[in-house]
Amino acid sequence: MGENAELLQCAALLHDIGYSPLIASTGFHPLDGARYLRDVEHADPRICNLVAHHTCAIIEAEERSLDRELSAEFQLEGPALVEALTYCDTTTTPDGEVTTVEERINEIFGRYGPGDIVTRSIQRATPHLIAASQSVLKKLEDQPK
Ligand SMILES: [Fe+2]
Repeated sequence: MGENAELLQCAALLHDIGYSPLIASTGFHPLDGARYLRDVEHADPRICNLVAHHTCAIIEAEERSLDRELSAEFQLEGPALVEALTYCDTTTTPDGEVTTVEERINEIFGRYGPGDIVTRSIQRATPHLIAASQSVLKKLEDQPK
């Protein structure tokens, strides 16, 4: 990731901060987390953008009718950063273990159950999540050893 490595690491560590009950306001954690980082922590705007849009958040935002707010307040960062963060999120279990994107998606479906807004959003996002993972894995393979 070159000069973006630290930015990606920060975003990866902070991406789910919006789940904290201390800062949740809308109940949609990408937006709550990004707003907190922007308004309280005055974080780098690129970190806020990455947190806001992590792992195809715009799809769940549409399901929650929060997509206009999300897009108006936070820009989409470049595709390499976005897919790298998606890869990090979707190849790590909630306990921090390494997994595959397919197993992670199944874990989310099992945790939320059919009909849940998260399950529905991840179902819509699945092709994008798999494509992001494949793209990053290809880049990793193509790196000089
Ligand atoms: Fe998340």
